[in-house]
Amino acid sequence: MALFLGISRVLFRSVKDLRLLTAKRHRVKGKWATTRPKHLPTRLALQHFDATYSVQLGQLWPSVRVALLSERKYGALFNNFSNNPDLEKLQAQGCRDFISNREDPTSSEHNSEFGAEEDSSSVSTVRSHIDSQQQSPLWLSPNIKCLVFPRGDITRFKPARPDKFSLLSYYLMDAASVLPCLALAVQKNHTVLDLCAAPGGKALALLQTQSVRFLCVNDSSVSRTSRLKRVLHSYIPKPLLTDDKLRITSFDGTMWGEIERNSFDRVLVDVPCTTDRHSLMEDDNNIFSRSRVGERRSLPQLQVELLLAGIIAACPGGEILYSTCTLSLNQNQGVVEQAIQLAEENHGIQLQVVSLRPLVQKFRNTFHFAPDLHLDESTSHCR
Ligand SMILES: C[S@@+](CC[C@H](N)C(=O)[O-])C[C@H]1O[C@@H](n2cnc3c(N)ncnc32)[C@H](O)[C@@H]1O
Repeated sequence: MALFLGISRVLFRSVKDLRLLTAKRHRVKGKWATTRPKHLPTRLALQHFDATYSVQLGQLWPSVRVALLSERKYGALFNNFSNNPDLEKLQAQGCRDFISNREDPTSSEHNSEFGAEEDSSSVSTVRSHIDSQQQSPLWLSPNIKCLVFPRGDITRFKPARPDKFSLLSYYLMDAASVLPCLALAVQKNHTVLDLCAAPGGKALALLQTQSVRFLCVNDSSVSRTSRLKRVLHSYIPKPLLTDDKLRITSFDGTMWGEIERNSFDRVLVDVPCTTDRHSLMEDDNNIFSRSRVGERRSLPQLQVELLLAGIIAACPGGEILYSTCTLSLNQNQGVVEQAIQLAEENHGIQLQVVSLRPLVQKFRNTFHFAPDLHLDESTSHCR
């Protein structure tokens, strides 16, 4: 839309104006040529991934690499609070809810709808202060619906439309990003903390469960928190956005232990990471740019601090879900292991890692999963 307006404005200008515009463009282009980084962040990211993931993933890396470099395929998180008939329309176009229709007879384990990159988000759940060794069966909210076009169908979703109360009918997000929200298994009347919540896709998915008694969404970035507020107001009815049901804050999540301890039934810790796919696609705001080397190297430390804060915020028996959108072992397995150790040594909190194999089994026809979950009930950290 913005691009279209821009073009029409140029077309309606006089020839003289057009010449001015052209000259200006060349000047700007010249400036780009001198200031353009010699080492594009996207290229640096690819070099880094080639070096690390080829070792980590072995024979899988070439196909994962292709997938990471391919266009992203979205899912439409359906908004139960909107009155638009878009669900039926999307279904008529061939979309299906991959959560309720998970047994797709046309696909096989090696024929997943999404490439391996769609599973680049990595999730781990831990339970705090657990007094039993039993693994409860996986419970999935029946209210979270995410529509996807069939395998091989690259149709793009139209922008969601507002209903008569101005609520939008669906939110477009990476379909794999819904998995952490399902895995968190929010139950009736739970209190939930989303520690790094902006722009808000996962918070929206958690609210779709209609089980949350109180949700606290936090993000340290003030501008991103404003975006989060806008998203929530575009999807959630006003009566559900009141202070007794929802709190929006903009604190440094690593300090959450100073704010609230032992409080939440469920905590989502969806940390900042190297966002592998974004880092291969966009030079702007890229964590692999040379000016951000220090920030990138300190990510695992920040992630450990955030996860530890989330663990401290959870109540005894509560569950914490750690998620990233990177394949990096240092930012996934390494972070969870360190946080568990620190929670035990410095805070006396005992944790049990919950296996997500049941989730993998349920959605193996929709996503490619890594062949081996690195953290599960058999790891040495289980208690
Ligand atoms: C992966 S994004 C979260 C995506 C979000 N959960 C969603 O589903 O839309 C990570 C977020 O962490 C935030 N962040 C970074 N450092 C933080 C900190 N110290 N405390 C809280 N949030 C932080 C970033 O601003 C960013 O919005």
